[in-house]
Amino acid sequence: MNLKIAVLPGDGIGPEVILQAKKALYAVGVVYEHDFLFEEALIGAIAIDKTGSALPEQTLNLCLNTDAVLLGAIGDPKYGTDAAANVRPEDGLLKLRKELGLFINIRPLKPFKGLLNVSPLKREIVEGVDFVIYRELTAGIYFGEKKLNEAETVASDLCEYTEEEISRITHLAFQSAQRRRKKVTLVDMANVLESSRLWRKVVKKISLEYSDVELDFLFANNAAKQIVRNPKQFDVVLTGNLFGDILSDEASVITGSIGVLPSVSLGENKVLFEPVHGSYPHAKGRNIANPFASILSVAMLLDHFGLKKEARKVLAGVEKAIEYNVVTIDLNPDSKFGTNEVGEFVSNFILNKDDLMYF
Ligand code: IPM
Ligand code: MN
Repeated sequence: MNLKIAVLPGDGIGPEVILQAKKALYAVGVVYEHDFLFEEALIGAIAIDKTGSALPEQTLNLCLNTDAVLLGAIGDPKYGTDAAANVRPEDGLLKLRKELGLFINIRPLKPFKGLLNVSPLKREIVEGVDFVIYRELTAGIYFGEKKLNEAETVASDLCEYTEEEISRITHLAFQSAQRRRKKVTLVDMANVLESSRLWRKVVKKISLEYSDVELDFLFANNAAKQIVRNPKQFDVVLTGNLFGDILSDEASVITGSIGVLPSVSLGENKVLFEPVHGSYPHAKGRNIANPFASILSVAMLLDHFGLKKEARKVLAGVEKAIEYNVVTIDLNPDSKFGTNEVGEFVSNFILNKDDLMYF
């Protein structure tokens, strides 16, 4: 298969973890005879530094003309979070999502067997968890009108959803549930927010078309508790942009580290893969960032394009690294292995090298 992939390493640890993801893809290409063509482009703080824009035209054009986008991370503390900032790294990612029409972000949560003891949660809570978060990605409070009065004493962000924006992700969530354990949990704040009440109405109506799928509702505050208290109840968690962002970071506690969570964002015809974690500026350049989330994003990419055995091989490489304890310090504080060594182990596994470097 020929695939042209836009690679956007971004900021912080982004370039380091993306390098390992590229190595895994390269290894898959060699072993299974695929042509993966990578083209790199700037986004985020590094793009602001070099071009003045968080999403340069060239980057957007590249992404519009490739089969897939592979993204590292966005964000740099030197661009503060104060009102005065007129360019923000995060705006690059938000604009990219909007321009590519990536209205849904899918984040699977399934702990690795070898990492059950890494989670701070009790083993009986974590073992057997298997759910997926369907987060709406191009609307809601992230994209509503923002206002700040002249005196900078009053500010607002509008949380707006249309029936169409709710319904397109809802259908995909129900279809996913049909392939899984047939349950959708809508997370909202319908006791307080008008936009949430619209979500409920639209989701309830659509649920009638999927009579084999059970529909459950949770207020976001309760969902935040249930995710660490009884996460096994979830199959497909359907929610808006902001709640989805917050709950997916929280859910990473189940797997032991946010460094193992991949994601895919989908639209009508575009697709983007990225780790759930952020740019982790403190770890930049220190060879300590966990590359698994990026490498597993590559497995999702392969799976998306129907390359099932290739995807399984990448996943098996990560499982093998965990089995041999070739992991970064977020998973094992005593580890002597860093980003490079862990990534190298996985790509060597994919290449079927017998002399697995460290053993
Ligand atoms: C994510 C990130 C982004 C988000 C930021 C960087 C804008 O946290 O992809 O989860 O909030 O969507
Ligand atoms: Mn996030």
